Amino acid sequence: MPALAIFGITGRMGQSLLQALREARDSPAFHLSGAVASGASARLGQDAAGEGEPTGVLITADSSVGIRGAAVAVDFSLADCVAAHANACAAAGVPILVGATGMDAAARGVLAAAARKIPVLIAPNTCVGVSVIAKLVALAAVGLGPSFDVEIFDAHHRLKRDSPSGTALALGEAVAKARAVPLNEVAAYGRAGGGEPRSPDSIGFSSMRAGDIVGEHTVMFAAQGERVEITHRATDRVTFARGALRAAEWLIGRPPGLYGMQDVLGL
Ligand SMILES: NC(=O)c1ccc[n+]([C@@H]2O[C@H](COP(=O)([O-])OP(=O)(O)OC[C@H]3O[C@@H](n4cnc5c(N)ncnc54)[C@H](OP(=O)(O)O)[C@@H]3O)[C@@H](O)[C@H]2O)c1
Repeated sequence: MPALAIFGITGRMGQSLLQALREARDSPAFHLSGAVASGASARLGQDAAGEGEPTGVLITADSSVGIRGAAVAVDFSLADCVAAHANACAAAGVPILVGATGMDAAARGVLAAAARKIPVLIAPNTCVGVSVIAKLVALAAVGLGPSFDVEIFDAHHRLKRDSPSGTALALGEAVAKARAVPLNEVAAYGRAGGGEPRSPDSIGFSSMRAGDIVGEHTVMFAAQGERVEITHRATDRVTFARGALRAAEWLIGRPPGLYGMQDVLGL
């Protein structure tokens, strides 16, 4: 059974990954080999499991220790430490799935460089359903054409840091690609204030952050007299974790390169 290292073990997603591993107890895809948190973590040196049955793996802040012996690493830490984790994985030859979102261009550059040495899977949303709606969104963008206005809405829990969500941006990329325009030239973030009416070719983003909402996304295509809405709702965080484990299993043994969930699902 392959060994799995988790970056961001103490967080909501890190603990959901442990829950998903426990669910698959009868036919486990992985055993946990390493668990990494920040140097400031209150749980350094403690067992990876915050509650329930101990894993026997102690939390470290040292990435190279955390990934030792791992067949694959899954990163659900925060955007600003992903680059360091990817460099550690590239040095050790360990494939990495990056589930953390909100990375800047510099971090993306580091991931692209790491992908010349190891397989790197960037998955801003590891739900299988979201990969499917991304495909539907691309199809709708082509089929409905440029006369339809596109607006993308995401809702998440009150603690989420990045906005719009990584998934909302990926859905926007899917529309922009289908329309053969660069997203950064047509994206409109929030629509507060007055001024000009909507630019016809813009792709709008709006976000809501409240309570314990796990993750909701709607892509709306609206024209005169009709409206198409494609929505995905995640109601339990463990669904992201199940998808991440499936993708991590797929990543083992792949050649170096950049991959996405569409590759995992054969879409
Ligand atoms: N791809 C998807 O499907 C998906 C789904 C949900 C969330 N996400 C994304 O995944 C990320 C984590 O989400 P979350 O809700 O689990 O966040 P969270 O609860 O805040 O957890 C963040 C984790 O990162 C760790 N961390 C922070 N700084 C670190 C560092 N310098 N080195 C190593 N570990 C560090 C934290 O550990 P300590 O604080 O204990 O040090 C904690 O374990 C976010 O970017 C979120 O947007 C992606």
